[in-house]
Amino acid sequence: TTVEWEAASYDMGGHDTYMHKEIHEQADAVDRVLRGRIDDRFSTVHLGGLNLDAREARRIRRVKILGCGTSYHAGMIGAQMIEELARIPADAEPASEFRYRNAVVDPDTLYVAVSQSGETYDVLAAVQELKRKGARVLGVVNVVGSAIAREADGGIYVHAGPEVCVVSTKCFTNTTVAFALLALHLGRTRDLSVRDGKRIIEGLRKLPTQIAEILKQEEQVRELAEEYAQSRSMLFIGRVRGYPVAREASLKLKEITYIHAEAYPASELKHGPLALIEPALPTVAIVPDDDLLEKNRAALEEIKARSGKILAVAHREQEKADRTIVVPKNEDELDPILMGIPLQLLAYHAAKVLGRDIDKPRNLAKSVTVE
Ligand code: G6P
Repeated sequence: TTVEWEAASYDMGGHDTYMHKEIHEQADAVDRVLRGRIDDRFSTVHLGGLNLDAREARRIRRVKILGCGTSYHAGMIGAQMIEELARIPADAEPASEFRYRNAVVDPDTLYVAVSQSGETYDVLAAVQELKRKGARVLGVVNVVGSAIAREADGGIYVHAGPEVCVVSTKCFTNTTVAFALLALHLGRTRDLSVRDGKRIIEGLRKLPTQIAEILKQEEQVRELAEEYAQSRSMLFIGRVRGYPVAREASLKLKEITYIHAEAYPASELKHGPLALIEPALPTVAIVPDDDLLEKNRAALEEIKARSGKILAVAHREQEKADRTIVVPKNEDELDPILMGIPLQLLAYHAAKVLGRDIDKPRNLAKSVTVE
């Protein structure tokens, strides 16, 4: 029965923390967000709760994604997927910034509110303000029947299951997959080819197995974490698809280890952060095997030339890095879904070395339901 299922999911099931358990639930969670949604006949997906017919979908001229914290980072990845697959201009913004700057609300923009809990006040207030002005708002939410899910005109449930740890892991991953589904759906109602639709569907189907492969490297990541836990500060870099991954990894590390961490677009290194590079400031670099690989390698070289220590997350061993965590390659557009997963483990094991309260970091709450 449902009741038993829920009771079982709140059990730690042999893990020392909910975070560890939730990291390891990700292959199953991704399986759930995909289940019943893929349409092989038309190389697209069905999103039953979207409430957006094809004619309306074709009229969208922009997509604006709003969220806070980890959900904002998932939205950044989502915006890139929508631009790439549907060719609709899209961007993400922290919901609180949006609501305080008297933003122009445009009838041809599709607004998407992202929230694990569906209760974050800043996101809810942004949704209510948008609706008051007649905008169309979708929710990408985990908790069924939550306030944001109820206020939105429609949306996608990410079906990650209950997430107890204050910091989000499996919900982040499932939200990025939900955005891939939305991007594919919007793309296939517009100009995305059947061929590309098929390619993305094949990529989506590979995700659960690839996640399991990544998690098998836990012991190697744990050893790295012992070393990195001693850092006072860390720099995270990525370019285009890698940049939101770097931001989320940096957030995860600071939330649970209290180590200062900063994320930067790799292309901006030379405009400031290079001044900080020295052996005591390690860099974590997201290096996907895509058309920007050479550019990213050049950035690693710049850091190496200044004796900076580098940990790369890449699809193959990076010569310029001191260590590389190799993750399985998917389709270019879907790579960001996977590349941050080993860094969840890095943050977790570093926090463990430091003896932190991993599931309940100081000063933070699972959902911030006040102003
Ligand atoms: C809090 C949590 C973050 C979370 C954010 C948004 O600040 O500490 O981990 O990402 O809220 O939560 P939501 O439920 O809206 O995704």
